[in-house]
Amino acid sequence: MKDVITTAQFTLDEVLNILEEAQEMVSCVRNQQINSFFYLFGLAKVALFFAEPSTRTLGSYKEAAERLGFRTQEISGKEATSLMKGESFADTIRTLASQGADVLVIRTKYEGGARFAAEVLARGGYPVSAQNAGDGANQHPTQALLNLLALKTRLGRIHNFIFGMVGDLKYSRTINSDLDILRLLHQRYKDIKIKAVSAPETRIEPYRKYGLDIEEGESLELLSDCDVIMVTRIQEERFVDPNELRRVRGRFVINRRVLEEVLRSDVIIMHPLPRREEISPEISNDRRIFMWKQMEFGIPLRMVLLRRGYLERKNDSYFSPDRPAKQKIIVEEPAEDRLRKGKERGKQEKYFRPIYEKGMIIDHLPFGMGDLIKRLIRQYAGLRGEGCIHTLEGVKRLSTGGRKDVIVLEGQYIPEEFYGIVAFVAPEVTFNVIEEGLFRKIKVDISGSTISKAFNCPNTFCITNNDPEAKPRFVVHNNGRVVVCDYCNRFFNREEILSNFC
Ligand code: NCD
Repeated sequence: MKDVITTAQFTLDEVLNILEEAQEMVSCVRNQQINSFFYLFGLAKVALFFAEPSTRTLGSYKEAAERLGFRTQEISGKEATSLMKGESFADTIRTLASQGADVLVIRTKYEGGARFAAEVLARGGYPVSAQNAGDGANQHPTQALLNLLALKTRLGRIHNFIFGMVGDLKYSRTINSDLDILRLLHQRYKDIKIKAVSAPETRIEPYRKYGLDIEEGESLELLSDCDVIMVTRIQEERFVDPNELRRVRGRFVINRRVLEEVLRSDVIIMHPLPRREEISPEISNDRRIFMWKQMEFGIPLRMVLLRRGYLERKNDSYFSPDRPAKQKIIVEEPAEDRLRKGKERGKQEKYFRPIYEKGMIIDHLPFGMGDLIKRLIRQYAGLRGEGCIHTLEGVKRLSTGGRKDVIVLEGQYIPEEFYGIVAFVAPEVTFNVIEEGLFRKIKVDISGSTISKAFNCPNTFCITNNDPEAKPRFVVHNNGRVVVCDYCNRFFNREEILSNFC
């Protein structure tokens, strides 16, 4: 583990391994004992770059670093940095690395910011571990790990429970990270049930695809049989619509009555903190309130992550490179034969002009999309060869009688990496390539491939919309009906992406 970017990067075995090491650390921290991990890293440095407010995460990372013997450098508050002067996020990251950070802990409002930071460091050849201390409404992986460590200690198990969540299930990054861990646990143990209470709009839906059993509702009664409940603060700083904020604020409150009349008598109430009105002060000292104890796990857990990140800082990041669409050749024959057949079927001369020589016919584009795709090609494809490119609009489909657009490239080709982008816009597309007297008709499968650069992320808080060096990248699912931004991890459908052509 070089970087800590998202909880989804870990396998369950890695998570369990981290917990085991952290548990050893817990007793040392508690008893003020020193074990072999303490005060090891005398010359090494942990930089704490916090461009959003923090009490617990910053404080516990700092304490964890100092107990391990790291020197620390703290830059916190956007106002205190050159971000205010318009310096880019990437340049700030480079600066901290060049001042000698070995581990760089980052909190930012930009979703995908920590991941992008890890890429900036890797590309710049800096041997630095990047650790995500919260990136906007996206992820807070170290919080989710400490939550699990705390729960394991209190409950004595990490599965076979009903896990409740209440509060802000739309913008809370800790909830996203918790859900990633619950997904891992459920995949192995198959005995986790989730009950979620919030305003109707949440980001839970995609997790159902992993087989998680999630019951959603808008009443606290739903939580009556939960073993544990994770309460979260309404993330008011992330709301863009003040009316939406007004509707949700103060709506679900755990107070004495709820504790006595609705919830189980042995329920474990957790909260990442800070708390606002969602847990009323009158029950702060109730035995079921576990959040004070919970936060103590931040130091030992972060000690493990700092140590691991430091020791592996010279390794490669875990990010996968771009994955092109899979190609399948469905026809291969001499170009001459193809030409003859085309003529026999009465195809327009200009349609198969490349077949006389060399080039490409991009076929079966939806009627009316030809020009958009031509624009995409001109802007991004980096055409190979000299020649011309033209669109045939509304060509009659010989099979169905309907209409389609066709793009003809005479004497030139688009690079294969670009096939996936065209297929995303036009799922039925075929690429007819004529080279050295050979005709090949190719179809592509885009599921699991990545799409880079051509489309902006629709999420305005995504780092790709907030740093000129961060280029948008999506992973394609379900043959392009759904894509996930590789940075902010949000799901979008094809239409949302198509309206964001760069
Ligand atoms: C959380 C955060 O910053 O996401 N706090 C924390 O790190 N313990 C939760 C919150 O701000 O509500």
